[in-house]
Amino acid sequence: NPPSYRDANKVYAKCLRGVADKLLSRLSVGLGLGEKELRESVGGDELTYLLKINYYPPCPRPDLALGVVAHTDMSAIAILVPNHVQGLQLFRDDHWFDVKYIPNALVIHIGDQLEILSNGKYKSVLHRTTVNKDMTRMSWPVFLEPPPELAIGPLPKLTSEDNPPKYKKKRYCDYVYCKLNKIPQ
Ligand code: OGA
Ligand code: NI
Repeated sequence: NPPSYRDANKVYAKCLRGVADKLLSRLSVGLGLGEKELRESVGGDELTYLLKINYYPPCPRPDLALGVVAHTDMSAIAILVPNHVQGLQLFRDDHWFDVKYIPNALVIHIGDQLEILSNGKYKSVLHRTTVNKDMTRMSWPVFLEPPPELAIGPLPKLTSEDNPPKYKKKRYCDYVYCKLNKIPQ
């Protein structure tokens, strides 16, 4: 509920496909690869779209609590829509910065799998959320994930003797298992 929700999601998913393809193509070119290479490396047409809905109710002591603790996203990319309540922060140069709410804007996170594929050229963004004393915050991230059995590692074209692979190659499902169970990758 509401009953229109399923239809709205269908339309949103369709629109996101175009955004995802464009992002992956530009990020691919940014690595010196062909437009289609990065999309293929994260699973091509098998790329999974995982929608999560975050609900952060008002909190009487926002100074003592976080919405989600600091983390990086496991996926290749996350595309997030928040409501108007400020709360997302990202870590850079030893500081937490508020991610300003911009109406109708999408927030794009580089996730772990893109850091791995690019052998560290693209960095997975460390982020967290705060909570609000009076207002409910919500967000709708869609995680673009490789299919579970696909093995992800630094792309051979992006490594060399001078730039050896910095990450292990492993199936996405194994990566997720280790991360969720806090087992070193
Ligand atoms: C997440 C996340 C941020 C937000 O769900 O992984 O980081 O703004 N959410 O809710
Ligand atoms: Ni996140």
